[in-house]
Amino acid sequence: MRSIGPYTLRNPYILAPMAGVSEQPYRVLAFRMGAALCPTELVSAQGLFHANTRTLRYLRHDTEVERPYALQLFGGEPEVLAKAALVGREWGAQLIDINMGCPVKKVTRNGAGSALLCEPTRAAAIVRRVHEATGLPVTAKIRSGWDEGSRNFLEVADALEEAGCAALAIHPRTRAQGYSGQADWSCIAALKRHVRRMSIIGNGDVRTPADAQAMLASTGCDFVMIGRAALGNPWLFRQLLGGPPPTLEERCEGVLEHFRAHLAFVGDALAAVRSFRKHLSWYSHGLVGASAFRAGVNALDAEGEVARACERFFLTAREDTSSTVEGQDVDYRAALG
Ligand SMILES: Cc1cc2nc3c(=O)[nH]c(=O)nc-3n(C[C@H](O)[C@H](O)[C@H](O)COP(=O)(O)O)c2cc1C
Repeated sequence: MRSIGPYTLRNPYILAPMAGVSEQPYRVLAFRMGAALCPTELVSAQGLFHANTRTLRYLRHDTEVERPYALQLFGGEPEVLAKAALVGREWGAQLIDINMGCPVKKVTRNGAGSALLCEPTRAAAIVRRVHEATGLPVTAKIRSGWDEGSRNFLEVADALEEAGCAALAIHPRTRAQGYSGQADWSCIAALKRHVRRMSIIGNGDVRTPADAQAMLASTGCDFVMIGRAALGNPWLFRQLLGGPPPTLEERCEGVLEHFRAHLAFVGDALAAVRSFRKHLSWYSHGLVGASAFRAGVNALDAEGEVARACERFFLTAREDTSSTVEGQDVDYRAALG
């Protein structure tokens, strides 16, 4: 099944929602490289409900490229989420995703994110109300449970499917696990076997096209969602479709295009330069001279100087094949704050 509600997606590869990363500029790059869906990062339902200007800025998107445009919301109150989703629909949202996996305390202490795994009835009420209020397809993203003693993803899935959920993404680690250990893909397979109508989106530890194939084949999931491996690597989506890795020129042009779009998106040049540093750190990961480049560019505040430093570095930077860099994880913690 290659569809989510009324939308048939062009391939099974989805960019994971990532706070501070899945903003319009990066979503557009990923879409252009072939990603079939790129949901927004988590957006506060309370913030939209109160028409908070800062929250509303998260709704900006490119109506030409971002099709369908999926908005991820977090919150704990069905009515607040329904009203927030209506605001999202006014801004062009075509699909609403509910975050039921975020482990961050600031989110869970208000009954949102992964706290919803402890309340399947409330989670289902959210999906039902948001769908009733907006008429839009509603999806959800869960973890396998709150902790080892309560891996209740099948129970949660039953409640959500009954409420009309169109697709369910699962990151098979518990809330207590955070990012430790390995994602347990057997949960994805069990979920796919268990549900009747919902599309299943598998997520967790996919780093390469071979991993993505393995997840599709071994779990039977309908879609594969990729997060950390896509940091600084939008070309992964092209490679997933059988295309080549980026040439030096393509990588350089991609970084500069992302930087220009990021400057326009953020508005304030200094804030944009500073918030782009994490992306530069990911783009340079695994290239010879990356740490010297990062140290140099992190000391620059002028956009022109950053662009020139990027040109100098990325047009000549070769892959570092030494064993210390290979196999090292991309450091995503900068984005988590
Ligand atoms: C920097 C960062 C930010 C994230 N922000 C979100 C978010 O806003 N919403 C969400 O549902 N998951 C979020 N996640 C979780 C990812 O969507 C994904 O489930 C997780 O990274 C596992 O997939 P991976 O192994 O492919 O990275 C975030 C992950 C990272 C690394």
